[in-house]
Amino acid sequence: MPQILENISLKKYNTFGVEASARWYTEINSETDLEMLFSDKKWQTVERLVLGGGSNLLLTKDFEGLVIRMNIKGIESTLTGDRVIIEAGAGEVWNNLVMYCVGNDFAGMENLSLIPGSVGASPIQNIGAYGVELKDVFKSCRVFFIDTGEIEEFDKEQCEFGYRESVFKNSLKGKVVITSVKFDLSTKAELNISYGAIGDELSRRGIAEPTIKDVSDVVSHIRVSKLPDPSTIGNSGSFFKNPIISEVEFKQLKSSFPDIVHFCLPNSTVKLAAGWLIEKCDWKGKKVGETGTWKNQALVLVNYGNATGTEVYDFSTQIIDDVKSKFGVTLEREVNII
Ligand code: EPU
Repeated sequence: MPQILENISLKKYNTFGVEASARWYTEINSETDLEMLFSDKKWQTVERLVLGGGSNLLLTKDFEGLVIRMNIKGIESTLTGDRVIIEAGAGEVWNNLVMYCVGNDFAGMENLSLIPGSVGASPIQNIGAYGVELKDVFKSCRVFFIDTGEIEEFDKEQCEFGYRESVFKNSLKGKVVITSVKFDLSTKAELNISYGAIGDELSRRGIAEPTIKDVSDVVSHIRVSKLPDPSTIGNSGSFFKNPIISEVEFKQLKSSFPDIVHFCLPNSTVKLAAGWLIEKCDWKGKKVGETGTWKNQALVLVNYGNATGTEVYDFSTQIIDDVKSKFGVTLEREVNII
């Protein structure tokens, strides 16, 4: 039976670095640990919070239930022709997995370099960056059902991936735990360098025919230059989602704001850059007390030291209100608010 600790500080388990405590806390090192934990019905009835790297989370209060920290490790690869299937434990650090793939010349993950968080959390919000989303490399994941103790392997379709969305954030929220994830990668470099900033940085470096490692290095460089490092400045990456609106709404907005940053999507929808909207409301780089928006990327809220979760939350509400009144667009928080 995994050990259950009481009244544990969660400060070091959330990348925002805010203080909050957990009534109960346990670490899971195997699927058997999960089975044993939930064979005691008590843990099925208390509120639960499953934590990976704690990098997509804002704690606004103490958690009165059981925090389950996933620590299942292991990375295995199976080669078949020019495809390689990688299986990684939910508790592996995401970037360690990416570095393993880059180091072995397995292509597909390189654009997702340096995203904070764990492997097990990656399907939940279908993490994405620089033109690639998790779903592009995802094969399946093992899903533990808390109420029955059964484990099912979910394929891509069952995960219902969308933009920062999946079935795990919706109908299965709170009901399952992801224990491992399989990825389908290639041993041939099929690189995606369509994202403007990647191409710009490759040409600046004089690289005409990039390798997998080149792309990973460039992506890491862009991230480091734009985004705060959570080990020194608390943050959860993008705090809001990029809003998606209809073409009709977009046309109206564009007539008032001709330089609005946008990306046309299928089904007559348009994605707006939340960072741009926030910047145009004069919030970029603003600091209020111990919280603020990052100076190089307004979509990222930061904790300069001793911010409380509530302070960060209230700050985000002010941004939502301002963006709504200037552009008529409602920003949705991407991070999980507790
Ligand atoms: N922009 C501004 N001001 C800002 C920030 C951005 O005008 O303060 C403009 C940029 O100039 C650019 C556009 O907005 O024209 C897009 O900016 P960027 O390339 O930085 O990407 P993003 O849309 O703001 C998304 C993801 C990031 C991911 C980047 C790169 C979301 C919510 N965020 O940000 O993901 O790293 O693309 O692909 O989709 C995360 O989810 O935690 C995250 C960091």
